[in-house]
Amino acid sequence: MSLDNIPAVYRDDVQEVLLTAEQIGVRLDALADEIDRDYAGRDLLLIGVLKGAIFLMADLARRLTIPVAMDFMACSSYGSSTTSSGTVRILKDLEADIAGRHVMIVEDIVDSGLTLDYLVRNLRSRKPASLEVAALLTKPSRREVDLPVRYVGFEIPDVFVVGYGLDFAERYRGLCDIVALKPEIYGR
Ligand code: IMP
Ligand code: MG
Repeated sequence: MSLDNIPAVYRDDVQEVLLTAEQIGVRLDALADEIDRDYAGRDLLLIGVLKGAIFLMADLARRLTIPVAMDFMACSSYGSSTTSSGTVRILKDLEADIAGRHVMIVEDIVDSGLTLDYLVRNLRSRKPASLEVAALLTKPSRREVDLPVRYVGFEIPDVFVVGYGLDFAERYRGLCDIVALKPEIYGR
């Protein structure tokens, strides 16, 4: 796919475009329909995991026709290296009590699954009425813990990707497409 939509300053860092903004939009239409059906008659609290999930949160919430509330959490995962440490720290907690509510964690990507595993266990202890996960991307080949991810946008191979909220060292989040970086950029 062409790199025409990548801003010139980033173009040399990109190996290939994995998912275009248009492909993401089409997939989100289908996911939102599925969630609307599954949650018909219920209110849903979306919990976005900062910062990678911001665009997914915005684009998903605007497609849903059920009543949604939004809250955000931030966890430390791995600074500027590219693999999970397994140690998760909450940097920003929820504003609201989730007891008795229908809750969906909105995540950018599930890689080892360690971050999400921690989050699910943490939120489950707060006694929501239900708890599911929506993730835009998963890398099944890298999974270290078995976790149920109810709504998945795309399964991708084991490549380091950025764009649509995903970063490397806080760069590239604003790209509209999801792209694989050249390995020399992230030094794998
Ligand atoms: P996990 O704990 O290994 O599942 O890592 C999850 C977190 O790592 C995600 O929420 C992302 O912030 C980050 N991450 C994992 N893979 C990638 C990637 O390919 N690009 C950018 N960030 C990633
Ligand atoms: Mg993240």
